[in-house]
Amino acid sequence: MAEARLTLPGLISRKHAGERIVMLTCYDALFARLLDQAGVDILLVGDSLNQVLAGRASTLSATLDQMIYHAAAVRRGTDRLPVVVDLPFLTYQVSVEDAIRNAGRVMAETDCDGVKLEGGRVMAPVVKALADRGIPVIGHLGLTPQSVNALGGYRVQGRDEAVAGDLLADAIALEEAGASAIVLELIPQQLARQITSRLGIPTIGIGAGVHCDGQVLVLHDMLGLNEGFAPKFLKLYAEMGKLTREAVGKFAAEVRAGTYPDQARSFD
Ligand code: KIV
Repeated sequence: MAEARLTLPGLISRKHAGERIVMLTCYDALFARLLDQAGVDILLVGDSLNQVLAGRASTLSATLDQMIYHAAAVRRGTDRLPVVVDLPFLTYQVSVEDAIRNAGRVMAETDCDGVKLEGGRVMAPVVKALADRGIPVIGHLGLTPQSVNALGGYRVQGRDEAVAGDLLADAIALEEAGASAIVLELIPQQLARQITSRLGIPTIGIGAGVHCDGQVLVLHDMLGLNEGFAPKFLKLYAEMGKLTREAVGKFAAEVRAGTYPDQARSFD
């Protein structure tokens, strides 16, 4: 019998079964196909694409149209894996109505499985409004990149006891509002463990230690394509930047030497 397709609400059963969740960012159909074949559980069309692909300094200038374009491409690459799409800055913070309209557009135009948004208690009414309207939501706490200017940079959050208490209260509020899971970014592993054991919904960590219910990384970072980006939590699983340079260097040398294309690759 074919394995049941994983859904965002179905993530809870993964947590209860003690099965860790594997999430990676994905921005296009080609990688979506590869990640599906490689056994990833969920794809995240992260607004990090604004930095990784578009070369911008932060995620703040990502647009809804940009996210929809990439999410639709990812969806075309896999009809099996759940696809979650980041709501970009200012598409859900202004009003609940705005959030419903914008998240609704993402769902309708991309056939994705849910959206992710940043923020804790202040965002609970938005999470509830979306969940009540049939739009699964993943929360995002800790280092929330859309607030990088207020947080004073990309640094570990929740080392301070008061902030740690706030993050736990935020996580509980998101769960109560109907979130399907919460991404915990750049927080101490002890705090991630405390939040994870307190919640019924899964936590998915990035730079939050091993005690989360799952892990997420930015695909281009872990493949070694985003050279020079080396935060402590990142492990390089490949050196694709180096491989790319070597392959392109060989091509350039053969073109210059007149050895590419050879007879086998030419038409009469
Ligand atoms: O935008 C993104 O890629 C993310 C991950 C870092 C979790 O939100």
